[in-house]
Amino acid sequence: MSETGESLHIAVIGTGVIGAAWVSGFLAAGHTVTAFDPAPEAEERLRSQLTGDTAADAASRPDRFRFASDLADAVSDADFVQENGPERLDVKQMMLADIAEAAPPEAIIASSTSGYAPSAISEQARTAPERIVVGHPFNPAHLVPVVEVVPSPDASFEVVDRALEMYRSIGKKPILVRAELPGHVVNRLQAALWQEAYSLVDRGVVSVADIDTAISYGPGLRWATLGPLALQHLSGGEGGMRHVLDHLGPPQEVWMHDLEQVHLDDQLKDKLVAGVDAELFGRDEKRLTAQRDSMLRDILELKTRYEELP
Ligand SMILES: NC(=O)c1ccc[n+]([C@@H]2O[C@H](COP(=O)([O-])OP(=O)(O)OC[C@H]3O[C@@H](n4cnc5c(N)ncnc54)[C@H](O)[C@@H]3O)[C@@H](O)[C@H]2O)c1
Repeated sequence: MSETGESLHIAVIGTGVIGAAWVSGFLAAGHTVTAFDPAPEAEERLRSQLTGDTAADAASRPDRFRFASDLADAVSDADFVQENGPERLDVKQMMLADIAEAAPPEAIIASSTSGYAPSAISEQARTAPERIVVGHPFNPAHLVPVVEVVPSPDASFEVVDRALEMYRSIGKKPILVRAELPGHVVNRLQAALWQEAYSLVDRGVVSVADIDTAISYGPGLRWATLGPLALQHLSGGEGGMRHVLDHLGPPQEVWMHDLEQVHLDDQLKDKLVAGVDAELFGRDEKRLTAQRDSMLRDILELKTRYEELP
């Protein structure tokens, strides 16, 4: 449902890992969904991935869920389109041009692209390219709430607002990214951490397992409660953020300027792969993934109990 409680018609184009997660999120929130993916057996695969009420709705309520036989049919009466095709610029450009041509002129078209800018993926679109936005989810996308909304530079406030509202209506936590940058924002933040983690492993300072312990039993635990900046404020006591920046800012700057750029050559890749293999040796990867998802559900449930935390 939208914030006004309205059930909207969503077209989900490309139903691989991310598309399937969107289908279940939109259905669970009460919207109607038409999906399309040209891969053989895509419909069967998608239906087998839906669970609980959404699977039942998809199976027995053609008014709520339909798998279309082509792209134009899927988007022809959509209020909102979520595109999740392969991460290749030429493919995205073609798909978004086709979607823009076939979708109603007022429909918003969002792409899940992990890295391309809206102005790049909408380059071939002849019809209202300014309604094409990036709506980038985060894996596992059926659980993690954050979605980055990156509008094209000439998108209107109305387009941006409607995209943000759409994601809120399905329980997501959208953030607005006000500039087109490679990797948007969330992956840039991760890249900053990965860069230093890879460098520390490369230089033999710590093992891969130690990096993972350091984060998942250290800052990572806190980051699920509050973000790194609000946490920094709390660590300043009465003086808050101002005190932290005055007091710890100078050494922090030394650390920041000491960070090294890494190049992912074969030798470094081998070290990282061997490190992860050693860390996870003997563990069942299916159970690992299932327990990660189960714990994420628990954390999300816990978060609803602490109303002072944003
Ligand atoms: N996997 C992730 O962690 C992740 C996270 C966030 C965003 N994304 C982004 O989501 C998008 C999809 O990634 P994914 O991991 O689901 O990939 P995927 O390979 O699982 O799915 C891609 C799907 O697109 C379909 N497809 C191919 N050509 C198509 C066409 N012309 N029209 C419609 N569908 C077509 C394929 O059959 C496939 O099912 C990418 O842009 C990716 O960058 C991925």
